[in-house]
Amino acid sequence: MTTAVIIVAAGEGERFGGELPKQYAKLAGKSMLLHSVELFSRLENIDHVIVAINSKHEHIYKALAPSMPEYVFGGARRQDSVYAGLTALAKHNPVKVLTHDAARPLVSPQIITEVVDMLNDFKAVDVANPLQDTIKKNDGGIELLDRSKLYATQTPQGFCYPTLMQLYEKYNDRNATDDISFALWANLNVGLVNGSKHNLKITTPEDHQYAEYLFKMKAL
Ligand code: CTP
Ligand code: MG
Repeated sequence: MTTAVIIVAAGEGERFGGELPKQYAKLAGKSMLLHSVELFSRLENIDHVIVAINSKHEHIYKALAPSMPEYVFGGARRQDSVYAGLTALAKHNPVKVLTHDAARPLVSPQIITEVVDMLNDFKAVDVANPLQDTIKKNDGGIELLDRSKLYATQTPQGFCYPTLMQLYEKYNDRNATDDISFALWANLNVGLVNGSKHNLKITTPEDHQYAEYLFKMKAL
């Protein structure tokens, strides 16, 4: 059974700022993107790694390591980058596909494996991290939400490949910030894997500092 992962790395990192786009910024001595590329590449339950990059960053991508995985040019929205990867994967005929943010370099092999395994029972699998802050909605008036029923989504999200392809073609005109949104629009039953506080998405320089600290702790 063929399993592929699309690592999306085509963003501009506007909230992060800095000289290099954040996915190429150094973290624990290595470009952020390289952390997840190397992890997925060494896992036995992942057969293909494809990276969606920004065409403006092609030279940086190619210079990261002597042998980098296959890449495609992403698009303006995250979902356009995922779709470019999905299209390029068709030749490998994957059964399962994972979509992962390059901006989450601290993902663990355990989360990845749980997502791959749960795809035996579900067509879509989400990674759910419980919330710790009290959550309120400010929409004119302030409303208290029931935190026990809420979670923050992480990646890698997992899908049956033909299902995600169909969902992407059907809902191309809608805007999403993750891929499980597509499964929810189609009322699919979504499996849940436990996320981790360490699997944070690096959005701001502050997140980057925290990730440096986490890598240091891991190395001890
Ligand atoms: N991404 C992508 N293609 C896009 C937009 C985002 O491949 N058109 C990727 C990013 O590179 C990142 C992941 O999707 O790995 C999550 O996006 P985000 O954290 O929002 O990164 P950026 O869009 O780069 O950051 P910002 O929104 O601050 O500009
Ligand atoms: Mg973004």
